[in-house]
Amino acid sequence: MPITVHAARSVPKTAGATVTFVTTESLEAGIEGFDSAMLDTAGFAAKPEQVHLQPCEGGFVGLVGLGPAADVTATTVRRSAAEVARRCARHSRVALRPADDGAVSPAAAYQALAEGLILGNYSYTRFKSKASGGGDERTKLARVDVVGSTAAATKQALARGSTVAAGVCIARDLSNEPGGSLTAPVFADRVADIAREAGLKPRVWKEGEIKRQRLGGLLGVNRGSSNAARFVQLTYEPETEPVATLAFVGKGITFDAGGLSIKTAQGMMTMKMDMCGAAAVIGAMSVLPKLGAPVRVRGYLPMTDNMLGGDATRPGDVLTIRNGKTIEVLNTDAEGRLILADALSLACEHSPDAIVDLATLTGACMVALGPSIAGLMGNDESFSDEVRSAADRAGERVWPLPLPKDYNKQFESDVADIKNIGGSYGGALTAGLILQHFVSDGTPWVHLDIAGPARAESDDGEIAKGGTGFGVRMLIELAETFKPA
Ligand code: BES
Ligand code: MN
Ligand code: ZN
Repeated sequence: MPITVHAARSVPKTAGATVTFVTTESLEAGIEGFDSAMLDTAGFAAKPEQVHLQPCEGGFVGLVGLGPAADVTATTVRRSAAEVARRCARHSRVALRPADDGAVSPAAAYQALAEGLILGNYSYTRFKSKASGGGDERTKLARVDVVGSTAAATKQALARGSTVAAGVCIARDLSNEPGGSLTAPVFADRVADIAREAGLKPRVWKEGEIKRQRLGGLLGVNRGSSNAARFVQLTYEPETEPVATLAFVGKGITFDAGGLSIKTAQGMMTMKMDMCGAAAVIGAMSVLPKLGAPVRVRGYLPMTDNMLGGDATRPGDVLTIRNGKTIEVLNTDAEGRLILADALSLACEHSPDAIVDLATLTGACMVALGPSIAGLMGNDESFSDEVRSAADRAGERVWPLPLPKDYNKQFESDVADIKNIGGSYGGALTAGLILQHFVSDGTPWVHLDIAGPARAESDDGEIAKGGTGFGVRMLIELAETFKPA
């Protein structure tokens, strides 16, 4: 169960620990109840994410660092709050005193505080038996009381942060589930259930409908699988007349073995995560009704695994995508672009004001930007800037990459309109350029290659090892602030 975060006037008696946020300046000025020399000996310097806990009468008191006041951002608060949640996991109830001298606005700080607590406390325990310290035993922390202001604005910011974090946890849970358990039919049912419960309209296409709808990319990738494909569409309709319509497209490969162009054993180990794009879309959309976002949002989630059964797509096969273009499949491991081609074509038919797709698309993007930053490509500078600034505000890291037109010649095909792979270099750009063939001119579109940040090797700030739910926060921010051109 996620932590609940409340605004409280004073420290509740049942709190097992009371932790205070401190900037470098407030530490230098001296902190009531803490001996400066003792803190010095303990090595506490109020650095960001540094937590100091000491026993006291009836429990623990502690400090968590923020660094110099002028440098404090929402990211600092989120990361430090996450550390508090980790360090206080054995207390069921904790009181937290925010700093009053940070540079960040109270609304952003309270939201980030709630996000950090809930996300830092996250762990995926579904397959942990009690004996291994799993299940509900992993963390006792159930409630945090944020002490001080109980103003409506404070409560609202904490609630907003809690809601956003709940969306991220939905994406994390789906991403962490094994591929043999979360097959496409299971994934689609799960997404439809989440959607209905949240107040979204889901529509699930099964195999017959996918064929009738000519989703040739999705069918081609699914050919080697024993599990049928699914195509899920979601709609969020605001209560008042929408100011715009956004389309969110997410890659939903529930396991990527590579198909006949099979991956190595090492390369396959993390490939249950190849549906993180789709997970981010449902995670974000699931909280839009609660937040009352002013835009209509449609989600497009193609789902299948990429296996190598007896009738799997062969290298050299040609697939016809929804929009009529043909692709020669020369490497069956470049499958994400094939299913996204159908989804993007379909999204464009519904004439949205803008499209964002998220996909764990290329190892090349990780070579370019490392494990923690997503590549951002697009066909419209002002929309790209808008997505980039939404990501910045949400505390998610993206960096622009180009879509150079002349690179298109790398994937000219002898037998079809294009082939599904380019040359040896710039693989993230090749993938982006191939996707662009399925986006209508004039529809602003951003492609986010999230192969790196979708998954983390270790805990880091609000990120917990495993599926990170990357993209959820920026999609929410975008849906709340998007202005059509
Ligand atoms: N799902 C992978 C990309 C990936 C790799 C995501 C590592 C996360 C971590 C994708 O389907 C893939 O296999 N891409 C190939 C493309 C190549 C065959 C052109 C890749 O990156 O090697
Ligand atoms: Mn692949
Ligand atoms: Zn893949």
